[in-house]
Amino acid sequence: MDQLTAAWPRGSVSGRYAGYHRAVRTATLRLWVSSSRKRESNLRFAEFFAGIGLVRMGLEAAGWSVAYANDIDPVKRDQYDHHFGDTGDHFELGDVHNIDPASVPAVQLATASFPCTDLSVAGGRAGIRAGESSAFWGFVQVLRGMGDRKPPLVMLENVVGFLSSHGGKDFVEAMLALNELGYSVDPLVLDAKWFVPQSRPRLFVVAAQAPAIPVTGLLATQTRPAALVHAIMSARDVKWRLSDHPSPPRRSVLTLADILDDLSDDSPEWWPRERAEYFLNQLSPRHLAVAKEMMKGKSWSYGTAFRRVRPQPNGRKRSMAELRTDGVAGCLRTPKGGSGRQILFRAGKGRYSVRLLTPRECARLMGADDFNVSGSLNEALFGFGDAVCVPAITWLAENVLPVRPIAAETKPRSRAVQ
Ligand SMILES: C[S@@+](CC[C@H](N)C(=O)[O-])C[C@H]1O[C@@H](n2cnc3c(N)ncnc32)[C@H](O)[C@@H]1O
Repeated sequence: MDQLTAAWPRGSVSGRYAGYHRAVRTATLRLWVSSSRKRESNLRFAEFFAGIGLVRMGLEAAGWSVAYANDIDPVKRDQYDHHFGDTGDHFELGDVHNIDPASVPAVQLATASFPCTDLSVAGGRAGIRAGESSAFWGFVQVLRGMGDRKPPLVMLENVVGFLSSHGGKDFVEAMLALNELGYSVDPLVLDAKWFVPQSRPRLFVVAAQAPAIPVTGLLATQTRPAALVHAIMSARDVKWRLSDHPSPPRRSVLTLADILDDLSDDSPEWWPRERAEYFLNQLSPRHLAVAKEMMKGKSWSYGTAFRRVRPQPNGRKRSMAELRTDGVAGCLRTPKGGSGRQILFRAGKGRYSVRLLTPRECARLMGADDFNVSGSLNEALFGFGDAVCVPAITWLAENVLPVRPIAAETKPRSRAVQ
């Protein structure tokens, strides 16, 4: 019997005192979780698709300890090791498809931030059965191979485009695969911008070895937007177990300006005049007007931009820069071919300057302020562009994972319309 199940108070929750029992059970687990946090090693997780380890950072902040990690990429493994310095203990480098399930220790949680390349609306959308994203099935195979040692909790993370890949079929197929392994599933969307000044909506699925709760109706909320409600309500065969969790914050208390390095005007990071002017020429007339307004300010104001190839009225395509000035950076991406690098625009006092975001600024945008950055600039940007937002993971661990009943309830309860 695993530690979570052993710690869970047993007995029926049906009948007159069902609500009371549920409350006691929840309170008991909360107490147990908080005392476990002090003991630290009791809540253990296995981190699949570990990348540079930001899921780990987020879970550790919530009192969990890593017991196992896997990734295929030696560069990411080196970055992970440079920060944590303990890969020798628990990091298995290699393809998830080749993992021997017996080598994965018994843990309470397995996380899988599997590749989004084939699910993202920005990619070719080959889907979950093709390319890198099919690594999800390698993860499923490991869980299956663990048999009775399967973790009671699983957490998936991917882009929101997962919901619409192949008209929604990929998402349903993945949920049914977890159901088949005995997990009931609870999807939600968290946007990094609620915690840090970066727009990064991501789909999370918390899966628990516990009975399903039939969904009789559902209204859209902050964490379950309309597209997700639609996906849930259209997949009647899936065994859902939707949590009642509090709403996350609506907006980060920090803005883009708060996470920027204070680089002097003569810092080599700032682009030479000619390159900066070229950037300005890439703005649309509307964005150029915004940039000029910013230049008139008495103090600095900041925006971020990505370059995008846009079709023009004359039928040709042109590389354009799109400026964002709401105090929130765009979603960090992996800099494939150089176009994924986020540009910083600073203007005021009658002038402007332009540069790329530094790796340290990218770390702060992921809520990983003290991450020990290593490797080349491109490797660092790749690592952060692929990673998760640390405080979003901590929020999920504290507000969704602990309140889930792990031990089986005797009678599944029906979920009322929200
Ligand atoms: C979206 S990233 C996850 C990043 C991670 N959550 C972090 O915070 O850095 C997906 C990761 O899966 C890894 N990966 C891709 N295919 C894999 C496979 N077949 N087996 C194991 N890892 C794989 C990639 O190297 C990459 O680091």
